[in-house]
Amino acid sequence: MDHTGGIEEKPLLRDIASMLMSFENSRRNLIPILQMIQKKHHYLCPRALQVVAKHLRVPSCEVYGVATFYNQFRFHPPGRHQIKVCLGTACHVRGGDIILENFERKLEIREGETTPDREFSIDRVACVGCCALAPVAIVDDAVCGHMAPSKVEGLILGFEIQKDREKRAKRQSESKQ
Ligand code: FES
Repeated sequence: MDHTGGIEEKPLLRDIASMLMSFENSRRNLIPILQMIQKKHHYLCPRALQVVAKHLRVPSCEVYGVATFYNQFRFHPPGRHQIKVCLGTACHVRGGDIILENFERKLEIREGETTPDREFSIDRVACVGCCALAPVAIVDDAVCGHMAPSKVEGLILGFEIQKDREKRAKRQSESKQ
């Protein structure tokens, strides 16, 4: 699913095209180019992969194949709130996959995806170094340890309440203008 809406894609593609100028069109530049795009824009959209393929003069399916082979690349823009669920060994043993499923069910997206309103994205990550707190999720850079389905509910509810408050504050400030 394309969550870019096509609106922000044009400047993104223009920027990528200008970044590609500094790379000669050799296939060995493929991974460094994909890494550079991801670093700057946080994800790779299908059109970006086509632009890269054209620049390197390789088939688009080859670029897509390489990009999907490495799980360092994401194909959806990250959400305003980024949820990363640890599935390292300690977290997996303590039910990290159940936590991931809970987030997926609650937000109605799969890992690696972003909600259509761009509020949330979910990713799985390897050990984040706090195994004693397993199972662990990283939510907007905050470590949430000893995760449980009820904590998933609580976190999402907290964000929904925050969003409602923001909406109300925005409406109030608009009505004062
Ligand atoms: S395995 Fe999850 S923090 Fe180490």
